[in-house]
Amino acid sequence: MGNGHDTGLRKGLTHYGDAGFSLFLRKSFAKAMGYSDADLDRPVVGITNTASGFNNCHQTVPALIEAVKRGVMYGGGLPVEFPTISLGEPYLAPTSMLFRNLMSIDTEEMIRAHPLDAVVLVGGCDKTVPAQLMAAASANLPAISLVTGPMMTSSWRGERLGACTDCRRQWGRFRAGELDEAEIAEVGGTLSTTAGTCMVMGTASTIALMTEALGMMLAGGAAIPAVNAERLRLAEATGARAVAMAGEGLVPSRILTPAAFANAFRVLLAIGGSTNGLIHMTAIAGRAGIAVDLDGIDRMGRETPVLVDLKPSGAHYMEDLYKAGGLAPILRELRPLLNLDCLTVSGRTLGAELDAAPPAWPQTVVRPFAEPLAREGGIAVLRGNLAPDGAIIKQSAASPALLTHEGRAVVFDGLDDLARRIDDDALEVAPEDVLVLRNAGPKGAPGMPESGYVPIPRKLARAGVKDMLRISDARMSGTAFGAIVLHVAPEAAVGGPLALVETGDRIRLDVPRRALALLVDEETLAARRAAWRPPAPHPGAERGWLKLHLDQVGQADTGCDLDVLRPPPTATTP
Ligand code: FES
Repeated sequence: MGNGHDTGLRKGLTHYGDAGFSLFLRKSFAKAMGYSDADLDRPVVGITNTASGFNNCHQTVPALIEAVKRGVMYGGGLPVEFPTISLGEPYLAPTSMLFRNLMSIDTEEMIRAHPLDAVVLVGGCDKTVPAQLMAAASANLPAISLVTGPMMTSSWRGERLGACTDCRRQWGRFRAGELDEAEIAEVGGTLSTTAGTCMVMGTASTIALMTEALGMMLAGGAAIPAVNAERLRLAEATGARAVAMAGEGLVPSRILTPAAFANAFRVLLAIGGSTNGLIHMTAIAGRAGIAVDLDGIDRMGRETPVLVDLKPSGAHYMEDLYKAGGLAPILRELRPLLNLDCLTVSGRTLGAELDAAPPAWPQTVVRPFAEPLAREGGIAVLRGNLAPDGAIIKQSAASPALLTHEGRAVVFDGLDDLARRIDDDALEVAPEDVLVLRNAGPKGAPGMPESGYVPIPRKLARAGVKDMLRISDARMSGTAFGAIVLHVAPEAAVGGPLALVETGDRIRLDVPRRALALLVDEETLAARRAAWRPPAPHPGAERGWLKLHLDQVGQADTGCDLDVLRPPPTATTP
């Protein structure tokens, strides 16, 4: 591959008024890092370094980068790593989601500003891969994703455990008085025992599988455990492929088509994936100028069964899916429903990659299409006067009896109110009531935290209640389970109907009919609407990133991206 005037270190020169001087100076400074003239003549492959002392999921990033570098050099390129923001899920307040768009801006601008011919995006924890793909779609430079991979499971007193479905389950047992302080502390020490991302079908696993289905990752890359040596070999292959992509001009816009997103959504439904997969993929599609048709996703859901038996919807963990063949057996079962001619980062189509995958072998993690875990896909899209722009429920993780339910609303006005009252023994609440949490959306919380998994009030938990219908404008961790309606749009903080619900109102959920209704007459609602006042501004809302976020962030149905980052859509998913 030759270097023209717009490749390698000659690309995007710093403005000093004299192009020759700019290149002379750049090379001179590069030589200070030990590079030779021969190095500096090669195509440059950037590698994002998202290692951070605040990101346990990215502990292996340095080793992955070394392997990617080898691959880039074998491919004839010059590997250059550069840092970007890293988002470690449990360390960020108020929620990592508040910073996904900030990371996408950082990553996009660094891709655009540096003299890169291609970029390898090394990420893993929940928000990092979506942010990187949003950036890649916007920068439209050849880009290839490499995830850190899932953790291995461990066990506690003979019971197999994994983060973080079992974190929640065991914490629920502690809240119910079934475990004491010492036991829950022991559990805490055994939930996350290796490097890597959460090993259930949480957001990280969901996004990894969707990214592979989307075509932005080498085939087989989603499920390899973080600590398995095959992941290092994949990293090397990813680096080599990045150099080739630079030569081929294989930019994201050739891969990120409506049909490719449809494939990713099919996989989301078939794996019983995290509801966050819907928000993040909608945001990535938005960057590519593609609007996501929520009702189209619901139609897909009705014909796409849940095939993957992983927690929280099923029984297994990601290392089991890896041993079962990873994404390939899932795609094989979905084959008639997929758009097989979509291009992938390999330069081959999804269908060609599937043909080249190892043959199927007996396994129990991915079910045959005819014998699914659930007949309908994991996520249903709800409509009604409580959610004019939609809401969703992960039906595969809900108690079936609550999928059609009417009950009395018990309203919490925000996260502080929830924390203050949920465990109060004086709270008037019964198992058949509907817990409503509002002001927890993109602007309301702010950042739409994973607070939709409203805990069962302690007095009911102690009485053995395991699930209740819960409704909010928040998100939910992909590792959580229950009859939980999420992403109600528009959110309460901008005056959506959720803001008008009062304790004692009746709410009806009918998932088979995809309906979510507040059973209050329109006249009463109009009076409440006229009296409604927006919540008080958040502390710090007058400046900085929080101000930009609050001014610009969109609602859940558009992926919660900033308005200024989304081009007008020119296409829609099927
Ligand atoms: Fe990073 Fe779960 S904490 S994926």
